[in-house]
Amino acid sequence: MDLRGNWRIPTEILAGAGRISELAGRVRDIGVKRALVVTDPGVAALPFFPGIIAGLEAEGIVVAVFKDVHPDPILDDVIAGLAAFFAHGAKMVIAIGGGSGLDCGKSIALAAATSRPLWDFEISAPTPALDRPMPPIFAIPTTAGTGSEVGRATVITNTALGRKIILLHPQMLPKLVILDAELTFGLPPTLTAWTGMDALAHNLEAFCVPVWHPVADGIAVEGMRLIKQSLNVAVNEPRNLAARSKMLVAASMGATAFQKGLGAIHSLSHPIGAKFHAHHGLTNGVLMPYVLSFNRPAVEGGIAEVARSLGLAGGFDGFLQWVLDLRADLKIPHTIAKLKVTEESLDFLAAEAFLDPNTPDNPRAADKAAMRRILAAAMAGDLAGLDS
Ligand SMILES: NC(=O)c1ccc[n+]([C@@H]2O[C@H](COP(=O)([O-])OP(=O)(O)OC[C@H]3O[C@@H](n4cnc5c(N)ncnc54)[C@H](O)[C@@H]3O)[C@@H](O)[C@H]2O)c1
Ligand SMILES: [Fe+2]
Repeated sequence: MDLRGNWRIPTEILAGAGRISELAGRVRDIGVKRALVVTDPGVAALPFFPGIIAGLEAEGIVVAVFKDVHPDPILDDVIAGLAAFFAHGAKMVIAIGGGSGLDCGKSIALAAATSRPLWDFEISAPTPALDRPMPPIFAIPTTAGTGSEVGRATVITNTALGRKIILLHPQMLPKLVILDAELTFGLPPTLTAWTGMDALAHNLEAFCVPVWHPVADGIAVEGMRLIKQSLNVAVNEPRNLAARSKMLVAASMGATAFQKGLGAIHSLSHPIGAKFHAHHGLTNGVLMPYVLSFNRPAVEGGIAEVARSLGLAGGFDGFLQWVLDLRADLKIPHTIAKLKVTEESLDFLAAEAFLDPNTPDNPRAADKAAMRRILAAAMAGDLAGLDS
């Protein structure tokens, strides 16, 4: 292994129940008087939301709210948000929500700093120079899943291509994150389970990427341990502060760790999400055991170490069984057929998955035929033989 790397762990995080009350003071501290709050209609309707706006206004900050963000945001959301940003004369973005609200907010800040089409910032392209400084971003997650609050990337759907595009710019990394688990109390059990599986997929896939990054690996293992302790509890006891807090930080840890890269769970999940509109965490959860089995020859030793850290007996098999049991407890289906994926779409999905920017990071080389094999197994619900 090449023992060199570029490691980024710089985000300032305020973690703890009630710490949302510190938001307004932190905005004041950076000298901003006009802010655009970006969120989605679901989060804007939650009981805590008016209090956040009132808190900012009480500090003398003039706030506009942009809440027209679709789940899995599209470019039009970013364009409309950018118009709101300029119309308000905003000097920063405060993104509040799940991955959709956070990604849209971060992308609006990027759009404010460039005159180029946003697709020029696709992760696989060289990063273009900005035309103007990027407005600062504060991020407040209300789901415990994507970890977008500590990431430099956003996922925006290109509706013309029917494809989820990952945009990347180092300055999209939020300047401040507030992890206030009380904001996640209202997340329903299904979304708690699905977003939690996204967080698990991030920690797991990041750990499996075969590059030298012991900092991220340590974070990923602890992230998985926290999820093992708390995901089921958070689903069954929505107001359990300890479980919600552990899930929220585990989600941030997953995205911190995936600066290493991700892998085929995400490569396959993206086209399924774009074509069949299934929730990203749900598709990750369905696909996880299949990709893990396919990757077995490359990750068996590493996963056995993870199993030990998580207190699971049986090495790789014990870990795989834990994933299957967790998935069953969370009522996540065993096949992609249950997500309404059709047999006829498998060739298309395999081709798209192969092109996904996460594919080169998968620990076992996965060409189009391999993606097709994993999809066929996930359609039939049959894990046998994938590791050969
Ligand atoms: N930027 C990244 O690194 C990254 C990583 C993974 C996924 N993503 C993207 O993030 C998006 C998914 O984000 P998500 O899984 O957080 O879901 P989401 O943001 O789409 O939210 C799902 C639903 O939950 C509601 N919701 C959010 N918080 C709530 C709360 N506290 N109580 C009640 N309802 C609440 C929202 O209103 C919405 O209807 C996808 O577009 C995915 O591609 C981004
Ligand atoms: Fe994800």
